[in-house]
Amino acid sequence: MTRSLFRAAGCVAVTALALSVSVGSAEDKAPSIHDIMKGCFNKKVGAFPKIEPLAKEGKWDDAKKHATELKKLANFLPKTKPEKGSEESWQKLAKEFAVKADAVYDNVEKKDAAATGKAVKGVGGTCKACHDAHRE
Ligand code: HEC
Repeated sequence: MTRSLFRAAGCVAVTALALSVSVGSAEDKAPSIHDIMKGCFNKKVGAFPKIEPLAKEGKWDDAKKHATELKKLANFLPKTKPEKGSEESWQKLAKEFAVKADAVYDNVEKKDAAATGKAVKGVGGTCKACHDAHRE
């Protein structure tokens, strides 16, 4: 009797959790590929184009803010699925991109402008192969 009561209570808790997830705000949702690309690379609002100029000026706090955003978004990419291209290829390219974004973050954290510049170029070299294979 006590047991089944517990079970019933657990069931309610799970239902409540599921409800709160589905009603949760948009920020809780994993971003789409479109959101990730925009957040990283949009000329106005993207994190990536801002990092190298800030690093060159020695504005490391601001550079780190954008590098953190880039790293976070990049590491979501392998959790998404493209509409075009194979899963295997996507995983390879998306992980490569995430590793290169991590390198940008690491060098910003070290406040190394030269290494940040190189890491930024590394990320810049990932676009075409992935767009050719996976962008509609
Ligand atoms: C691992 C794969 C991958 C890499 C690496 C990648 N992209 Fe993308 N990108 C995509 C895909 C897939 C789309 C299409 C997304 C969609 O619209 O659903 C896209 C779309 C975009 C868009 C359009 C976003 C929008 O507003 O719809 C821009 C801009 C963009 N990418 C810039 C870049 C730049 C710049 C780089 C390199 C510095 C890059 N991407 C690297 C996969 C990638």
